[in-house]
Amino acid sequence: MVSVAIMGHGVVGSGVAEILTTHKNKLFASLGEELYIKYILDLREFPDSPLADRFTKNFDDIINDIDVRVVIEVMGGLNPAYDYVKRCLLSGKSVVTSNKELVAAHGAELLSIAKDNNANFLFEASVGGGIPIIRPINQCLVANNVSEIAGILNGTTNFILTKMINEGMEFDVALKLAQDLGYAERNPEADVEGHDACRKICILASLAFGKHIYPDAVHTEGITKITLDDVKYAEIWGGVIKLIGKVKRLENNKCDILVAPMFVPNKSQLANIDDVFNGIMVRGDCTGDVVFYGKGAGKLPTASAVVADIVDCAKHLKNRKYLFWTDSDNSSVIDYKDSVTAMYIRAIADDTKAAYTKAEELFKDIHILSKDDAKQGEIAFICEPLAYGEIEKNIDTLNNSGIKVESAIRVGDL
Ligand code: HSE
Repeated sequence: MVSVAIMGHGVVGSGVAEILTTHKNKLFASLGEELYIKYILDLREFPDSPLADRFTKNFDDIINDIDVRVVIEVMGGLNPAYDYVKRCLLSGKSVVTSNKELVAAHGAELLSIAKDNNANFLFEASVGGGIPIIRPINQCLVANNVSEIAGILNGTTNFILTKMINEGMEFDVALKLAQDLGYAERNPEADVEGHDACRKICILASLAFGKHIYPDAVHTEGITKITLDDVKYAEIWGGVIKLIGKVKRLENNKCDILVAPMFVPNKSQLANIDDVFNGIMVRGDCTGDVVFYGKGAGKLPTASAVVADIVDCAKHLKNRKYLFWTDSDNSSVIDYKDSVTAMYIRAIADDTKAAYTKAEELFKDIHILSKDDAKQGEIAFICEPLAYGEIEKNIDTLNNSGIKVESAIRVGDL
């Protein structure tokens, strides 16, 4: 029997307890031993739970119990999760977490502590919910040099954008619907401003390239400024707007990494990932592109990934799973202004003909997008790939010439 403790009994934590109970026989068959929930840490009362006798409000019960070999952190946030996880690893207990904020902020340190204490620190559920992605990159694709990862990593924003694209819903209305359906938080900032996707691409990049990339080094844009006009222009261009987390290894071994809404061509597999689903493309030098698709959030999908890690920890109590990256100072990340991209630009001008002439003068090569119901004075075009810093300068010049830029969205090379 392997005793485990679950810290947190929210959506994911209760899902983990549920799967460990309902799939007991299936898990026994895989592990050859019973997984026994000895403690559930939560400050709230759950008197009606079938596991009511296992609840504790005291972390000391867990840390001081040598029977507990695997601790599951599903509380979310950094405090007290960081302190608790660190103390568990320092005491030689293996830890499984779904907490992307924790892994993105402290992954290198916690992996190092796990290594020094012959314990495991696993976090499959931190990216892509129920989609296997950490283990595939770390194990199944280990023969590859990964050159690029690009994905739809946030279900809430993908749901909102899908509603805007397929049903012509305004952003605010789609966000309200996402909140009513329980996808978006009451404070939706982490999702709609791209921070959640940023944490996830940081974890994937750190894993694929072996060095921690911290979220503060990653240029991040959300979807709050996207309008239905932009959605329509993307359709005219031949694609859809998606919030993409992307990292690319450059020839000089530096990383071009960012999170931003992008025009995605209809032929890309990422264009067809809708609603709350996630999709992640990993480009390996041996495999070519491998695409992972599935439910990126939700109680049982996320708990499924957590339980897989619990079983893996229980199978490796005396030896370590090799999952590791080193700390870094973010010096491998290029300035986002040096990142080269094509761009969609929409602006309002007094004289559209003169505005297009000015745009051509600045950007050299532009592809004009025409919309039947374009607003008075509206221009829209795609410019050829340029360093983002140059695009910004050109946008400033347009604005200073009275051509008011209302929208600028990258065109994804996907
Ligand atoms: N808020 C996240 C999402 C939950 O919408 O994808 C899963 O990490």
